[in-house]
Amino acid sequence: MMPVSTHDEASRQDYVLALKTHVARQMTPGNKVEMTHRVVPAFRKAHGREPASRQELRAAMERAPHHQVWGSLMRLGQELMWESVEDTVDRQLEVLEAKARKVDKGRGSVTIPKGFKPPRYIEAVDVHTMPGGYCDDTGDQDLRAGAIYDRGAFMYHHGKRGMDDNGRLIVSFVRTRYPDLKPRLILDMGCSVDHATTALVDFFPEAEVHAIDLSLPMVRYAHACAEAMGRPIHFKAANAEDTGYHDDYFDLVVSSNMMHETSLAAAPRIFTECRRILRDGGAICHMEVPVRYKDLSLYDQVMRGWQTYYNGEPFWNAVCALDLVAMVKAANFSDVADGYLKRTTAPDRDRRDLLQVGDQGNEYRYMLTARK
Ligand SMILES: C[S@@+](CC[C@H](N)C(=O)[O-])C[C@H]1O[C@@H](n2cnc3c(N)ncnc32)[C@H](O)[C@@H]1O
Repeated sequence: MMPVSTHDEASRQDYVLALKTHVARQMTPGNKVEMTHRVVPAFRKAHGREPASRQELRAAMERAPHHQVWGSLMRLGQELMWESVEDTVDRQLEVLEAKARKVDKGRGSVTIPKGFKPPRYIEAVDVHTMPGGYCDDTGDQDLRAGAIYDRGAFMYHHGKRGMDDNGRLIVSFVRTRYPDLKPRLILDMGCSVDHATTALVDFFPEAEVHAIDLSLPMVRYAHACAEAMGRPIHFKAANAEDTGYHDDYFDLVVSSNMMHETSLAAAPRIFTECRRILRDGGAICHMEVPVRYKDLSLYDQVMRGWQTYYNGEPFWNAVCALDLVAMVKAANFSDVADGYLKRTTAPDRDRRDLLQVGDQGNEYRYMLTARK
């Protein structure tokens, strides 16, 4: 299903990727140099002390020239990425929609409940600066936002199908930490175009796998992709706050990178809903980007929090600072644990233990888990 680039489109996309890589690898370290040698000394001179909070350091950094140039180029890279991908998708949109119609009678399914509307906190945002955001939808066959996200993620992750290793990491964690749990019914919340969901089908072949997302074009596209890849998954447009499934239904509920895109008001409701739809003894595993502010320096908080203001991630800062463990406990779960897992593409490693690492780089993922 993934749209294919022409030679010229691929050249343009290669250029954008080179620009993004240059900014990320060569220019990012300059922010720390500038903070250490200019920003903090100037702050100390003006206030007689160090910056005491993320907000104070950010305000000072925002006036520093290297940080401004870096931020402008980061933003430009994102905008160019989506623009270059839109051409590729729009040129083949009719072909993609025809392919999706053909695979519609597969072993999985897609359900769009009548009258379903995504909440404003996601519909109103151009998440990751993607034009129109996740939910831009023009009618029953529209899968454009899904195709753009998939092709953009392919580029962003240097030719990988999004973050599909997230799914494998969740699988290996569940299999080793909960050997007694033989999940028959699994739900992936915030599946977008199924990047992480397919691993659940591959490594729990005896299970029936369901996946929900707020975006209609995403679940339509995800269904077409899953069928094209021979993975039976039951997709549904639904809100993780109120999924519509029966009480005590699933053995395992997972998500990857959903929580940071969910509103603060929604987060506790999602954990309550997880508990309602889980059977006794069932488990939750919510995986996130490895950014928990309690474990980060102020500098790292400012750098990672840049997304909040300039990359369509309005909840990022607040969710990274939330006490998710307290929230899961408040939802009445037991055996609540959190920590970090080292990323890998090998799903069979023993991943029972969550690491408590202070400075988590991108080679880690954060995991929040508990049982009912
Ligand atoms: C960054 S994507 C992650 C996609 C995928 N799980 C992965 O790991 O690649 C986050 C997804 O969560 C979805 N999402 C956010 N809040 C949600 C909610 N309350 N209910 C269902 N999906 C939600 C968004 O629509 C988006 O597709």
